[in-house]
Amino acid sequence: MQRTAIYPGSFDPVTNGHIDIITRASKIFDKVVVGVLENGAKHPAFTFQERVNMLKVAVAGIPNVDIKSFSGLLVDFVKQEDSSVIIKGMRAVSDFEYEFQMALLNRKLAPDIETIFLATSDKYCFLSSSIVRDIAKHGGSLEDLVPDELIETICEKLGKS
Ligand code: COA
Repeated sequence: MQRTAIYPGSFDPVTNGHIDIITRASKIFDKVVVGVLENGAKHPAFTFQERVNMLKVAVAGIPNVDIKSFSGLLVDFVKQEDSSVIIKGMRAVSDFEYEFQMALLNRKLAPDIETIFLATSDKYCFLSSSIVRDIAKHGGSLEDLVPDELIETICEKLGKS
């Protein structure tokens, strides 16, 4: 039986921290589906299509990773993909309370679905999409923070003109 894991998020934009989690998950599972939230509560800086396109570029070299969109409940998307595993990255203790609450809530909604946490690599512990957006907005360097192929796209959209 093929084991598929779902890695959900807004990816506004994708960072090297996300890619680290996707790469490591792809070595554990037969297939990883990155679920891009289409209509979340947040107001993303990048359009849905831009976020998907950036992810596609970033994971192009990993054969067992698919990029898909979802709206509504995460657990419904997980079932739709014939999966029973949600992957989340845990960066620091500060992530724990929120992630723990989400994991418990998702288990209440769908008891057969498990959330598995991967500890983020230490070099990405400080990283988040909003930090990337902030640096780009103020003209700082995104080197090592996002995939090299995306630096221009991100800076063009958010950088000082
Ligand atoms: N490296 C770097 N940054 C990371 C990271 C990692 N490994 N993991 C998370 N982050 C960052 C994200 O970039 C994001 O940064 P930002 O707040 O600066 O934009 C932040 O941490 C939060 O990430 P995440 O927890 O993945 O939240 P999200 O908003 O990207 O996605 C969903 C949240 C999609 C998983 C959640 O809203 C969801 O499941 N929604 C569907 C509705 C639903 O089912 N609700 C009930 C769930 S209980």
